[in-house]
Amino acid sequence: MCGIVGVLGNHEVSPQILDALKRLEYRGYDSAGIATVHRNQLDRRRAVGKLINLSDTLVHDPLPGRVGIGHTRWATHGGPSVANAHPHRTGRVAVVHNGIIENYRALRDELTLQGAEFSSETDTETIVQLTSHYLDQGMTPVQAARATLKRLEGAFALAFLFDGEEDLIICARRGSPLCIGHGEGEMYLGSDAIALAEMTDRITYLEEGDWAILSRAGVQIFDADDQQTARPLTQINVDTARVDKAGHRHFMAKEMAEQPAVLKAAMGFYSGLDHDRIDLPDAIDFASADRLIMVACGTAFYACQVAKYWFEKYAGLAVELDIASEFRYRDPVLGLSNMALFVSQSGETADTLAALRHVRPHVAQVLSVVNVPTSSIARESDVALPIHAGPEIGVASTKAFTAQLQVLALLALKAGLDRGFLSGEDFDARLAELRLLPGFVAQALDREEEIKRMSEALAQARDVLFLGRGVMFPLALEGALKLKEISYIHAEAYAAGELKHGPIALIDTDLPVIVFAPHDALFEKTVSNMQEVMARQGKVLLISDAKGLAEAGDVPFRLQMPTVPDFIAPIVYAVPAQLIAYHTALHRGTDVDQPRNLAKSVTVE
Ligand code: F6R
Repeated sequence: MCGIVGVLGNHEVSPQILDALKRLEYRGYDSAGIATVHRNQLDRRRAVGKLINLSDTLVHDPLPGRVGIGHTRWATHGGPSVANAHPHRTGRVAVVHNGIIENYRALRDELTLQGAEFSSETDTETIVQLTSHYLDQGMTPVQAARATLKRLEGAFALAFLFDGEEDLIICARRGSPLCIGHGEGEMYLGSDAIALAEMTDRITYLEEGDWAILSRAGVQIFDADDQQTARPLTQINVDTARVDKAGHRHFMAKEMAEQPAVLKAAMGFYSGLDHDRIDLPDAIDFASADRLIMVACGTAFYACQVAKYWFEKYAGLAVELDIASEFRYRDPVLGLSNMALFVSQSGETADTLAALRHVRPHVAQVLSVVNVPTSSIARESDVALPIHAGPEIGVASTKAFTAQLQVLALLALKAGLDRGFLSGEDFDARLAELRLLPGFVAQALDREEEIKRMSEALAQARDVLFLGRGVMFPLALEGALKLKEISYIHAEAYAAGELKHGPIALIDTDLPVIVFAPHDALFEKTVSNMQEVMARQGKVLLISDAKGLAEAGDVPFRLQMPTVPDFIAPIVYAVPAQLIAYHTALHRGTDVDQPRNLAKSVTVE
């Protein structure tokens, strides 16, 4: 949700900033811009739409300078336009910003009364005007930035660049991530370490409330109380090669294909490759928990919804589940015998983080399952469990979902043991099943050509319905979400048994209905619901295994999955949900990796 870059370099920095912005484009792509200081003059270039448009602008109208800041935007206040694109500037200062300034209206009114003239609809411009105002009063850039920061309310990360200052960038972190990169006589800053991967692997993460003064000689960091402070320098292992498409047409295609390897590697991390135990931190103890509260957003929420079945079935642990944006605004009843678990790929989702902070003082322990171990959610949890999926760049989450499910499955088994609910024998059997996942997921991926053919017809649909029961219901929800977000086809999901309570009225000859139904204990029931659809001429695609397809009788469209143990079926059935969305989107010609209106990391409420 908006990406920020800054470079204090020894050569022209615009190309470096552009390259770093490319790595951050997943955070938003409504507009982009760069500002530099060259011969003491502040200047900028901005363009609406994807980064390629800014690149083109720079070819025709280059932006010299050895110090600069850049931004890729996901619009919040003010639509995507050049006027609203960052960097915002007055003659004296330029700012790039990620997040929201909550008191911007009051500040804007105050500054307008004092004669400031605004040229955009953004909250960000109030920062620039305010800093200019302080500079006009005779403050130095550092004093002006500091005075400005004290007036801002909200969650944000930002960077300032000043006219006449070729060796200075000031940046601040309050609620949105920001990291500093150390080079040889150069300094960098970025919304995440991946942005800086081509430049350095030596990173300092700013803590909540920190602000910093960067020069080529190094960085001075101050905490929220303006005390100079030291933050550790970490050597990160960013395998830059993993951030390219590795020969695939899209990041999403690459990330789907990576799933067998990701699942295998993560399993190796948590239980060795052939152990019959799970190596999870001892600090996690479900024995005396009377309730597990699980909170997340979007795809991560559907992973929790699957895991609820597992915690209840294999650990006898009551689970309360909520969407983060809802959870934080009700008055959930919390107790010190509860455990709370937050799931997030990015680890920065604003609503999930806010929910975590809300429950923290009231529960026994806060756990998280994240893909970014240095993220805010990870750092604010008692125990953070990385899913080891590697960077996920495609906006539609794929490998993170299956990897989240695998870690949640391991946690549920551990809970079963901790609580004496699962026998050692059952534990071993389930763990052995999890080890089969890479092979089964690879087999599911092998159905791609068939799915591609079927998706041609789906691409013509106006609406699509997904059905499932039990653990397949969240899979239906995930299938519908994937299809909506990348193909823009309206899709809905229902628990199959709920259909007759209203949605069955939608069924006609034009509505494709996709049914997830492995041959499990609920198969007969799901198939009955499917028959109700077919009796009304609904066009059904049944996704099942060999036995299920044989018993289901005559169904218009069928997709055969490998026969898999019930426990791991949701992870295997995630693959057709992803491939259907991907190929339908390709047939429709939409932008698979960067679908309209979306951004990868949702750091605003
Ligand atoms: C959908 C998708 C989103 C995210 C959601 C939460 O494909 O990716 O629904 O799952 O925005 O994001 P994280 O997991 O980063 O908290």
